[in-house]
Amino acid sequence: MLSVFINQATRLITPNMVAGNRTMVPVLNGKKTSYVNLDNAASTPPFNAVVRKVNEFMEWYSNVHRGMGFKSQVATQVYEEARQVVAHFVKADPEQNSIVLVRNTTEAINKLAGRLYFPPESVVISTAMEHHSNDLPWRGRARVMYADVDAKGALDVNDVEMKLAQNAGKVRLLAVTGASNVTGYVNDVHQLARLAHRYGAQILVDAAQLAPHRAINMLPNDHPEHLDFLAFSGHKLYAPYGTGALIGPREVFAQGIPDQVGGGTVELVTHGAVLWAEPPHKEEAGTPNLAGAVALAKALKILQEVGMERVAEHERRLTAYALRRMGSLPGLKIFGASKPEEGDSRVGVISFTVQGMEAGLVAGILSSEGGIGVRNGCFCAHPYVIKLLGFPPEEMQGLWERISSGDRRNLPGLVRISFGLYNTKEDVERFIAVLGKIVEGRYEGKYTLNCQEGSYWPQGFSPKVEHYFSL
Ligand code: ALA
Repeated sequence: MLSVFINQATRLITPNMVAGNRTMVPVLNGKKTSYVNLDNAASTPPFNAVVRKVNEFMEWYSNVHRGMGFKSQVATQVYEEARQVVAHFVKADPEQNSIVLVRNTTEAINKLAGRLYFPPESVVISTAMEHHSNDLPWRGRARVMYADVDAKGALDVNDVEMKLAQNAGKVRLLAVTGASNVTGYVNDVHQLARLAHRYGAQILVDAAQLAPHRAINMLPNDHPEHLDFLAFSGHKLYAPYGTGALIGPREVFAQGIPDQVGGGTVELVTHGAVLWAEPPHKEEAGTPNLAGAVALAKALKILQEVGMERVAEHERRLTAYALRRMGSLPGLKIFGASKPEEGDSRVGVISFTVQGMEAGLVAGILSSEGGIGVRNGCFCAHPYVIKLLGFPPEEMQGLWERISSGDRRNLPGLVRISFGLYNTKEDVERFIAVLGKIVEGRYEGKYTLNCQEGSYWPQGFSPKVEHYFSL
């Protein structure tokens, strides 16, 4: 057994396991406060151990593959080992699957869309809860259908099955998120895989929001509930160094021409012909991001050392706690599974609105008065958020025209908090303290809307960001 394959939970969860937790930031009253990051669904900070590992590796940095220098041999070994770590993390069979290292989930899905063969009249079934990155890449490749969600935003599995059955023989792929970046809903990806296979389709799971929070098991390739394709990002799981992964059956990548071509993708080139390399090398044009691969592998190893069950349990408790505390505040509307006991069906992402206030204003106050980082808007999932909000279809054209003319006042949107494994109840309490003031109208600042950006800024408060970090 290689040392990378750690199965025992041996590492503690601590608030200080990530870089920059509780960094001092300026707030409205002229003071500084320690930053509370509740925007982990967008990106997590790196694990400190990841930063150290990348820095250590720089002593050994060299380009990979075919360099005979010793450092190149080390770098090649490390890069290939990173693939094994990825395969092990998601229990993919590395003999039957290619582990392609890409920049992020978006690149992974775009690559897959460019590499799958779609016969005429092919259908891709996506869902109404997808991030744009698991919707837009399919458009123009095949006919895209969207399986519906219920009133709270949970996937309607019956609708998935109905669309699969009605289009049996044509459905090439079911492209579905593992966990929503808006409501946190977790899909039963194995049930969906079984359904897709029953109707002759394959399944892609967008695991950008799942991989940091739950154990993933792709299962053997011949298992009825096997996940055919999986995509995820390092920057959402404590390795923001620009590497993610696409995993899928080797034969898919063995055939055809890669979506990007150039150095590293070939065995032999003449002016008239190309002998392509074997996957995954064929799929990784140009010098790969070695630092990213080191970071990704180290982060996955740390998550395994902590144990994904413990990660899930910690975040489940935190989410239930936050939902309970938020439930005691007036004027809040929580979207998705809002009951603390619904922990198993969701990851630690909570989207909400405050009655009578724009999401941008709430996010602005949380930042300027509490030093709390949250996100607001539609989170790259416009159709989903617009549906959750019940935005009237007859107002869509007007919204389209306003945005086209650069007017971003009163945009539909939600406020979102999202937890990482290092967050604590104290972080939730800090958030609740400021949110409590917001819902009671007791916030301090006078906020002005920037119409072009749709963001709210407090008057008389313009800290110089370059004083905090500059190049
Ligand atoms: N789309 C990412 C998010 O959910 C950035 O925040």
